[in-house]
Amino acid sequence: MSASINIALIIGSLRTESINRKFAEYIVSQMPDRVNIKEVDIADLPLYNQDYDDTTIDSYERVRQQLKDADAVLIVTPEHNRTMSAALKNVVDIASRPYKESVWTHKKVAVVTASPGSFGGINSGLDVRKSMQMLSAQMMIDPEIYLSRATDSLNEDGSVTELTQKFLQRFASDFVDFAGKLGD
Ligand SMILES: Cc1cc2nc3c(=O)[nH]c(=O)nc-3n(C[C@H](O)[C@H](O)[C@H](O)COP(=O)(O)O)c2cc1C
Repeated sequence: MSASINIALIIGSLRTESINRKFAEYIVSQMPDRVNIKEVDIADLPLYNQDYDDTTIDSYERVRQQLKDADAVLIVTPEHNRTMSAALKNVVDIASRPYKESVWTHKKVAVVTASPGSFGGINSGLDVRKSMQMLSAQMMIDPEIYLSRATDSLNEDGSVTELTQKFLQRFASDFVDFAGKLGD
């Protein structure tokens, strides 16, 4: 039997009706039972300030620990003004500090973006990849998923359309393989 895999899920949108949340929920629903998924709650995190590196902030410690414990991190995020959302950037920064204590080093990370627009939030996804490269994370290179016209991939009840389901199922499977790989 294969070993269990711990995944930390970060959703870069704080919006109640987030389309990114809907796609994230579908992706994780397609993962096998041996995958344990814990969402990292980023809504309550104070804006990162380097002064805090010398103090203990409970919510910072919580997210750092959650990310440390994960075999891999799945980020599903919107694009805000051609970059990743501020809420997502905040947790990226928080988990990268204090200096030399970054939890991102060698961490397996994958990113998916979704937007109602034509570009699918690609700039946000590439931004995440850029930050993760700088932080020496082990980024899942392929496939690259930037869901354009993403509202067309949702049915009226908010469920994912059949065509996009197939696409996301393949991504979920590739991601679990990536997360479960040993020795790298
Ligand atoms: C402040 C703000 C900036 C935005 N900038 C972009 C953008 O640069 N590119 C884009 O494709 N969509 C942009 N959008 C539209 C979002 O893609 C859209 O609101 C989407 O539904 C956000 O994802 P969510 O539903 O998961 O929150 C922006 C939305 C907001 C609120």
